[in-house]
Amino acid sequence: MRTTEGKGGADVKTAGDAESVAVLLAALDQVEVPERWAHGFHTYPAGIHPDAARLLVGHFASGPVLDPFCGGGTVLVEARAAGFPTYGLDLSPTAVRVARARTATPDEPTLNRTRSIARALTAEARAARDVSPPETVARVLATWYAPHVMVELEVLRRGIVAVTEEPVRVLLEAAFSSILVKTSFRKSDTSAQREVHDRPAGTAAVLFHKKVRELGRRLTSYRDAVPAGTPEARIRIGDAREIPRNVPLSLVLTSPPYPATYDYLPLQHLRRVWLDDDNRGLEREIGARRHWRDGAAAARRQWASDTIDWTASAARAMAPGGRLVVVIGDGLAPAGVVETLGPTRDAAHAAGLGLLASASVYRPDHARGTGRWEHALAFEKPR
Ligand SMILES: C[S@@+](CC[C@H](N)C(=O)[O-])C[C@H]1O[C@@H](n2cnc3c(N)ncnc32)[C@H](O)[C@@H]1O
Repeated sequence: MRTTEGKGGADVKTAGDAESVAVLLAALDQVEVPERWAHGFHTYPAGIHPDAARLLVGHFASGPVLDPFCGGGTVLVEARAAGFPTYGLDLSPTAVRVARARTATPDEPTLNRTRSIARALTAEARAARDVSPPETVARVLATWYAPHVMVELEVLRRGIVAVTEEPVRVLLEAAFSSILVKTSFRKSDTSAQREVHDRPAGTAAVLFHKKVRELGRRLTSYRDAVPAGTPEARIRIGDAREIPRNVPLSLVLTSPPYPATYDYLPLQHLRRVWLDDDNRGLEREIGARRHWRDGAAAARRQWASDTIDWTASAARAMAPGGRLVVVIGDGLAPAGVVETLGPTRDAAHAAGLGLLASASVYRPDHARGTGRWEHALAFEKPR
């Protein structure tokens, strides 16, 4: 392991093949989020950086690409734009919905129908008065929405779920999902703090319409970028520890949950209620912060064992000569730092993969007087 001083005096540790190290370091170095395609369309916590995904796909892929913790689909957007067959898995229905919409390349008639349904629903929502979600749902949501906002959202929701043409419904649902936190009293996706504010009548409906048009513009430019003949991305709800082995993968590129960092399950509470998502799969999420509340040692052991399981599952699905690239940060648990470099490397070795290169960058958190390492590791399956 080499230790050097990186940009701005940051600590950097590297190992392995120099060319791969340079790519991994460049991937860890991305800060500015580009306004490219539908990357920025819908918030999704802890996304990999789009330019990092682009660099890593460009260097390590030569055929089918999978992200088994695909989240909002950043890796998938880039893999498809590079012309590769693209696959995604995630336990979260919100993630799958967002990733499907972001990787879509609808034709012009589909986009036109989507826009025209959105226009009609917006008008209906603005005119509506006595509409309410089913009572059980309304009771839960009453804490989070002003009554007139709830009426508008319910009209939109009813209209969207009635759309039978799937490609159109996928886009409308993603646009609807994208406004559910902004129109609520929830502070943000990652903070469940309640902040009451005034939204004039019609705001939610107009915002929905705006988001549909925005998605249409973003996907039009994406469609122009995806090479002709590239298959649609195949994204479904599933567990990274049980990766299907239908297609030998040239690259598994992923940013798994950082241990003790988020609870993805409660983050999507509002979306689950509105869209009737079955989030039970997320009870099995890897590395969730809540696991650390019941005991740090057991949570750490469970995370390491889950890491072994998903890595072995990825290795089985890879083609000989295929690569696994993992971007992961150390966890900051209440009881201390959860180191991720060693366990990630050990899991890959246990799965029979050889290390090509690794790069780690220290990210100081001056505000909290702490910091954490972030790592990018590349492995190869023997031929
Ligand atoms: C760090 S996020 C991935 C973000 C993604 N790279 C992006 O750019 O949006 C981790 C994801 O892992 C998912 N997840 C957690 N445990 C999982 C499991 N066992 N199988 C599949 N997905 C899982 C969570 O739902 C979350 O979406």
